[in-house]
Amino acid sequence: MMDAGRHPRIELLVNSEVEDVTGFVGNYRATVRRRAQYVDASECTSCGDCGDVCPVVVPDEYQQGLSSRRAIYLPFPQAVPSSYYLDADSCLGFNPIACGKCLEVCDKKCIDFDVQDELLDFEVGTVVVATGMEPYDPRPYDEYGYARFDDVVTAMEFERLICAGGPSAGELVRPSDGEVPRRVGFIQCVGSRSTTRGVPYCSNICCMNTIKQTLQIAEHYPESQQSVFYIDIRTFGKGFEDLYRRSREEGVNYVRGLPGSVEQDPETGELVVQVENTLAGRREEHRLDMLVLATALVPRKLNGDANGRRHIDEVLSLSHTSDGFVMEAHPKLKPVDAPTRGVYFAGCVEAPKDVKDSVTQAGAAASRAGNVLAAGQVRIEAITAELVADLCAQCKICAEVCPFNAIVQADKKANVYPDFIEAACAGCGTCAAECPFDAITMRHFEDAQIEAQIDAVLATDPMEKIVAFACNWCSYAGGDNAGTSRLQYPPAIRLIRTMCSGRVDQRFIWHAFEQGAPMVLVSGCHFSDCHYIDAVTWTQRRVEKVWTKMEKLGIRPERLQLEWISAAEGQKFARVMRELDEMLRTVTAEEVADTMRILEPKKLSQPKVVAAGPKAVTAAVPA
Ligand code: FES
Repeated sequence: MMDAGRHPRIELLVNSEVEDVTGFVGNYRATVRRRAQYVDASECTSCGDCGDVCPVVVPDEYQQGLSSRRAIYLPFPQAVPSSYYLDADSCLGFNPIACGKCLEVCDKKCIDFDVQDELLDFEVGTVVVATGMEPYDPRPYDEYGYARFDDVVTAMEFERLICAGGPSAGELVRPSDGEVPRRVGFIQCVGSRSTTRGVPYCSNICCMNTIKQTLQIAEHYPESQQSVFYIDIRTFGKGFEDLYRRSREEGVNYVRGLPGSVEQDPETGELVVQVENTLAGRREEHRLDMLVLATALVPRKLNGDANGRRHIDEVLSLSHTSDGFVMEAHPKLKPVDAPTRGVYFAGCVEAPKDVKDSVTQAGAAASRAGNVLAAGQVRIEAITAELVADLCAQCKICAEVCPFNAIVQADKKANVYPDFIEAACAGCGTCAAECPFDAITMRHFEDAQIEAQIDAVLATDPMEKIVAFACNWCSYAGGDNAGTSRLQYPPAIRLIRTMCSGRVDQRFIWHAFEQGAPMVLVSGCHFSDCHYIDAVTWTQRRVEKVWTKMEKLGIRPERLQLEWISAAEGQKFARVMRELDEMLRTVTAEEVADTMRILEPKKLSQPKVVAAGPKAVTAAVPA
């Protein structure tokens, strides 16, 4: 942090928020709100005179509320810049009865109550998102007594207690009476690996953090007794198993089993932990002086108001996996890239990880960003959307549905052509599928190309075929997975690949039925896995519309199926294909002929025609 603060080419904006990011890779424009700090950081010498006279005392967030701070304070000892900071929400200087004591004692005269927030604009080529995570609030685990007993603390609170810069200057003391605890217990997986409370995933760092903390106690207080209650201990990584062994050798008692209850003995004040030791096969009671909860790590803002996170999601077009962490462009091949080009991830915003992994990922993100900046040019995929201006009715639907903000309607009210930013287009094809006028061409996945594939599938023995649209990243790969796993499924299925299920225009579905398809399948990634942010939601809406229409026309909606199959679900792919094959056998030739007769005059596979009349054309239409 110090190096970053001193680097001549790094501008560190503390106490600032990104308000907006527009543009595309190589050409982003970021608007940042720099909050008024009221203390001139370049002048402040951190002498502390202002803090000494400040009459306001509030809990210190950095010390997890275990000690207090003043309204004007140094956030933490290694803060960069090393300057005092005025907390406007607590300061009396902003209330009707002004205080202003800090102003009087500041020799440097670096405090100014009239400073305002500033809006700063930056032109940047790439963006790295490193918004971190936060610890899980263990209050839902009432049986552990976090909200009832002072001496039940979280691992983060314990970290402050044992830290030399902590509220007790590194002396491990119990919050209830300031005494050194002789018997300390740790409960693992509080909020982690739970499908009922907290989060279902393993938080990655808690086992090693607990092992580290047991060694710290053993080193400073060799006479102490320690117990760790766990489901299983996960110590993958260089040197970690050695640390675990050392912890055991220091006499730490590892008990396999999570406690059922924690109560306090009213006479002795001891914490009484009831646990089933599943290795020994007996119920045990442990009497402790202090209990530490190894809480889960959760995506930021999962504990409360999600607005902050949602804001970053919106401005950078980010999407999330089902556990709430941001989703990478590809989990194996592009693990630090966001689906939006030129945006990279570092640290726990992507998944819980320790310092070493965070540093590794930060290095990878920095070099990915550096590559783009050094190249000076960006090579983009050829699969992008292109506007056919003659057919465009300026309806603005494409700009609304684009998950990457790659289609910009400069003036939402006026009749203008949308601006297509090819560098921002990721090629999902949602715009082309949603355009009612067929005014958007998806290079390499054009309407005519896909319709030709449908025609080819149905050219011979159509009653034996199922037309299946499969997205490149999940369903199609799920088919591959089924194949490489040598899973058997009926040969009736004919896959037509699109980059995303969002590309599947409802006109393709109608075209297949018009051509005599007995069954049609649309398949894509699970909702949180779509590689094009929320493109898959448009797939769902579109298929629902087709189902409704089929019902109205007297066509069995079951003949159109929608399935979410991931790349890892080869088993599911094969099962779905078997089920579809069974359904196929219920469709008769008469039913298919009826469908073709019903659809023939409707021309549902044809695009709408642009209404005649003058059109105002003001926006530049890219070639
Ligand atoms: Fe698979 Fe969007 S990428 S549905």
